[in-house]
Amino acid sequence: MLPNATPRLRFREMSPDDLDDMANLLGDPQVMEYYPRPKDRPEAAGWIDWNLRSYADHGHGLWIITTHDGDFLGDCGLTWQTVDDTPTLELGYHVKSSAQKFGYATEAAVACREYASSHSLASHLVSIIHRDNRASQRVAEKVGMKLDRTLRHASPVHVVFAMDL
Ligand SMILES: CC(C)(COP(=O)(O)OP(=O)(O)OC[C@H]1O[C@@H](n2cnc3c(N)ncnc32)[C@H](O)[C@@H]1OP(=O)(O)O)[C@@H](O)C(=O)NCCC(=O)NCCS
Repeated sequence: MLPNATPRLRFREMSPDDLDDMANLLGDPQVMEYYPRPKDRPEAAGWIDWNLRSYADHGHGLWIITTHDGDFLGDCGLTWQTVDDTPTLELGYHVKSSAQKFGYATEAAVACREYASSHSLASHLVSIIHRDNRASQRVAEKVGMKLDRTLRHASPVHVVFAMDL
């Protein structure tokens, strides 16, 4: 099962065949500005494996987002993360540098929020975001989340945005 296609985007599961695109995405210093460092190719392969395990275990994970013509744009989806020592459904997204600021992350994230809601995956949804990552915070706000300072993540430089589903 996948989130519904949107006017400009389609979702599909990641596969090992996506390694070139995912290594380019996660190896881009601009995309990874708020991560400890860009990921190398083996780490990008590990990212794909993590999502394959998530599909198998939970039926969802980060999915590849493409244009309707199949052009790779990035990933977006739903994974389980720990907030306040509790497994919590997280909405995540990464868009390649050349495709940023066209509204793609927001369009994909809304489709994932609707998927989480219609499949009753959880009672609330979070995004764990670096305190300085304004672009990601803005996407979370546009999806309907608000900064919730009562929720804590292990990383002291991250804040938690949240909403009820
Ligand atoms: C966060 C990210 C996914 C946003 O993707 P995008 O497709 O450019 O986002 P959108 O075009 O839907 O823009 C959503 C909002 O963010 C704003 N925005 C986008 N880039 C921005 C930036 N660099 N600084 C400030 N605001 C920004 C947009 O203006 C828009 O807000 P508005 O409607 O009020 O103008 C993208 O910047 C990215 O991949 N960043 C690196 C990976 C990352 O940090 N992921 C999140 C990890 S928590």
